Amino acid sequence: MSKSVLLLPGDGIGPEIVAEAEKVLRKVNEQFGLELTFDSALVGGSAIDATGVPLPEETLSSARAADAILLGAVGGPKWDDLEMARRPEKGLLGLRSNLELFANLRPAILYPQLASASSLKPEVVSGLDIVIVRELTGGIYFGQPRGIRELENGERQGYNTYVYSESEIRRIGRVAFETAQQRNKKLCSVDKHNVLEVTVLWREIMDELSKDYPDVELSHMYVDNAAMQLVRAPKQFDVIVTGNMFGDILSDEAAMLTGSIGMLPSASMNAAKQGMYEPCHGSAPDIAGQGIANPLATILSAAMMLRYSLDAEEAAKAIEAAVSKVLDQGLRTADIMSEGNTRVSTAEMGEAVLAAL
Ligand code: NAI
Ligand code: MG
Repeated sequence: MSKSVLLLPGDGIGPEIVAEAEKVLRKVNEQFGLELTFDSALVGGSAIDATGVPLPEETLSSARAADAILLGAVGGPKWDDLEMARRPEKGLLGLRSNLELFANLRPAILYPQLASASSLKPEVVSGLDIVIVRELTGGIYFGQPRGIRELENGERQGYNTYVYSESEIRRIGRVAFETAQQRNKKLCSVDKHNVLEVTVLWREIMDELSKDYPDVELSHMYVDNAAMQLVRAPKQFDVIVTGNMFGDILSDEAAMLTGSIGMLPSASMNAAKQGMYEPCHGSAPDIAGQGIANPLATILSAAMMLRYSLDAEEAAKAIEAAVSKVLDQGLRTADIMSEGNTRVSTAEMGEAVLAAL
């Protein structure tokens, strides 16, 4: 049965890197007989320029109809002076909330070929391969009430509300246990059980869910300790599951263990396994239009898309192996360049992945 992919190149380096990922997708589409169809639409700053809004109705309806979305990045200095509600980022937030993309998967993989890029000692990080499963549509970032109010004594007070319902915890928990099942069957749930009631419930539900996944070994850790352990001995983890705010912080921390922002993919999925896939980095306006951006994070995001939303594990593995192969060949974009290797452009990197496939 044919499946549809919506390409949202976005702004800055977005179009350059999505073009390379599209070539790779079209190649595996042929090789593996996947019957994928492709469409593209505007989002972010480029959508604002063309239509006045960051998420045009037409883009949203194409997104709803697609089985999976591949996004480049949005934003840039050109749109920085717009008011909050009209900024390019609203396009992304609008897609996440409209499609209910509650599960954010962020792998942090350190390719052995790039071990020297990390600020940690090679023996601590070499071969690192972990996934952080972050709840993306709930928690303190969305809880009501929120605001800044004036107290009786005239002092102002800022306030947010940290809430998670049982069903929200259960659905992210299931994604995490299933992810652990597909990997090394080890899941660490991160909370602040000692001071936050929300996470008392969180821990209770994770324990309850673990009965449905007897093959997965579940452990719990406080978030402050998890932050320490990630830099002390990150390889003790395999899959980590946590709420929106803790996940925001820990996933950025884990990502930086690898030292290569141009290499990191991400996935955001809903209950129907429909997903939006994008590199962790932004639109890199400082290097846009120069043909030097690293397309590998986007190409690896396409591999995640094949794995999680398009039921094409073989094709996903083939892309990941091809990426590893071009690194073995010593090909490097500027951001990951080091002595003794060969510097290549965005398009040359894309071509090398195609050739390795
Ligand atoms: P950024 O990730 O775009 O860039 C940070 C640094 O990393 C820059 O020096 C950039 O050149 C480099 N870099 C990023 N991706 C690269 C790649 N693929 N290859 C080589 N080098 C790469 O973050 P920054 O500068 O904070 O934000 C720039 C714009 O991107 C802003 O408008 C921001 O709002 C937006 N942004 C968008 C995101 C998204 O669409 N999901 C996420 C983060 C930022
Ligand atoms: Mg963040």
